Amino acid sequence: MNSKKIILFASGSGSNFKKICEYFKNDNTVSIELLISNNPKAKALQIAESFNIKTLVIDKQSFYDSDKALINVLKINPSLIVLAGFLWKIPSAFIAKFANKIINIHPALLPKFGGKGMYGMHVHNAVIINKEIESGITIHYVNENYDEGSIIFQKKIKILKSDDSLEISKRILKLEHEFFPIIIQKVLNNG
Ligand code: GRF
Repeated sequence: MNSKKIILFASGSGSNFKKICEYFKNDNTVSIELLISNNPKAKALQIAESFNIKTLVIDKQSFYDSDKALINVLKINPSLIVLAGFLWKIPSAFIAKFANKIINIHPALLPKFGGKGMYGMHVHNAVIINKEIESGITIHYVNENYDEGSIIFQKKIKILKSDDSLEISKRILKLEHEFFPIIIQKVLNNG
């Protein structure tokens, strides 16, 4: 059986990327073909090297004004593209070619606390300021608008009176690590 190919986009610390690499390491039905990052210093790039995964660093101009990334992705023709900490909006040419084949993880319960500028601690700070009683993670398809594609999976946590945004961020990241690889696998199995 041919393995299902996936491509990841990650530009931050890459902790989700690492969990995904570990999860699929010994699975010969799924192959992580490429990591694309816009940050040459992203830790995710070193993690990719340690797993022998090819990398591509893109700058903003080439991402939006040329088809360099898209051409590389099309050559691989992945079953799924996974955004794991990638903040730039995905160009519509990508969305058109890979309709319902791009997924993202967001550290809150969308549609709350999503959209441009809502990333990292901005999200968790907003959750605290709004005195939310719960937060969580959302895994969703990517469309032309930030954080608005249809929701695949959510998991909630209760927010305690004693929680601050740092504490929430740690618990949310743990949830992401636990569920993102499993949901990727589920999406691949249904595709
Ligand atoms: C995660 O919190 C994810 O929800 C968001 O970006 C962050 C990436 O974290 N989309 P890491 O780089 O995987 O540690």
